[in-house]
Amino acid sequence: MESNLSQGLLPLDQVVYKQRISAQCPSNIALIKYWGKYDDQLPLNPSLSFTLDKARTESVLQISESETRKIKVTLNGELKVDFAEKIDKYFTKLVSYGITALSRGTYHLLTKNTFPHSSGIASSASGFGALAEILVYWLYDSEHQTQELVSQLARLGSGSASRSMFAHLSQWGIDQNKKGNQQFAVAYKTLAEIHPMFTTYQDTILIVEENKKAVSSSQGHQLMNLHDYGKQRIERANRNLLQLNQSIQLGDLTEFIEIVESEALDLHAMMMTSHPNYILMEPQTLSIIKAVREYRNQMNIPLCFTLDAGANVHLLYPVKHCEEVLFFIERELKPFYSYYICDNVGLGSSVL
Ligand code: DP6
Repeated sequence: MESNLSQGLLPLDQVVYKQRISAQCPSNIALIKYWGKYDDQLPLNPSLSFTLDKARTESVLQISESETRKIKVTLNGELKVDFAEKIDKYFTKLVSYGITALSRGTYHLLTKNTFPHSSGIASSASGFGALAEILVYWLYDSEHQTQELVSQLARLGSGSASRSMFAHLSQWGIDQNKKGNQQFAVAYKTLAEIHPMFTTYQDTILIVEENKKAVSSSQGHQLMNLHDYGKQRIERANRNLLQLNQSIQLGDLTEFIEIVESEALDLHAMMMTSHPNYILMEPQTLSIIKAVREYRNQMNIPLCFTLDAGANVHLLYPVKHCEEVLFFIERELKPFYSYYICDNVGLGSSVL
């Protein structure tokens, strides 16, 4: 958005940038779903996610001084005016939180995702995560450069982005044991033990639908405010989190699977029972779910599914079952997806 050209300022492509900071941040997949928010991106219920590894955003922010603010965004080498507008709004919000340095300056954000834009993997989570990582590194002294601060800044861009910076698992929002924080996510390992199996867990993402979602997550969150089952949903999410905590610590996969799948279906049940209601699953989504359940029962392999706010299916399983699960995906599920992405639990964001 080269908004100040009319004022006779230097066009952005002629600016000599004085500083250049790079960072990377992965996406994440929620096991307990954040669905519904209040105030400025505070969650109605606590959520818990696996940090991914291969699906990530790498960004470079070039910065130079100027009295007014100008922003340009390049995604995978292509200039994106709509993204620049989004980042401009985000900076305005951060200024309102006291980060006044962002009220001026000339910025060129060069960003690229390691996963296809059409895949439905949350690029806003990894994108805001990488940008927040850059901003904290640039604006704060080393003693304040904490992952919690990165998480807080990322949250103001997109709620689920708050959970992407931590290794393995992270929780955002306060649970019934009064652990966690609404303003930022925390590394799960600061709250409780993680069974080692979950630090190498696999997430194979089956891409069913490549088109843009008919109803955005922002609209979906809003529909939770007057939802008939809103109160029950918050209670269930809290209860599910407590139970999931136990299974993550003990490595109890029967319980883990039951809760993870029920959270995915709860999320979609909320969409299907809101006013107006809507359906993001596709027939292939249900075919995959049914086949996964049959396979699990017949083969006794702890494979389970979760869903984002979309039709694509995330298949979660321990690394030791990689070979047989990939064989099953190729052999039995092929008619239902267009392609798949193999990911696993990862280590979070970093400055490069
Ligand atoms: C279904 O984080 O995309 O993926 O805060 O409006 O940016 P905003 O929403 P967003 O919501 C994603 C919700 C979810 C579940 C989850 O990741 O917890």
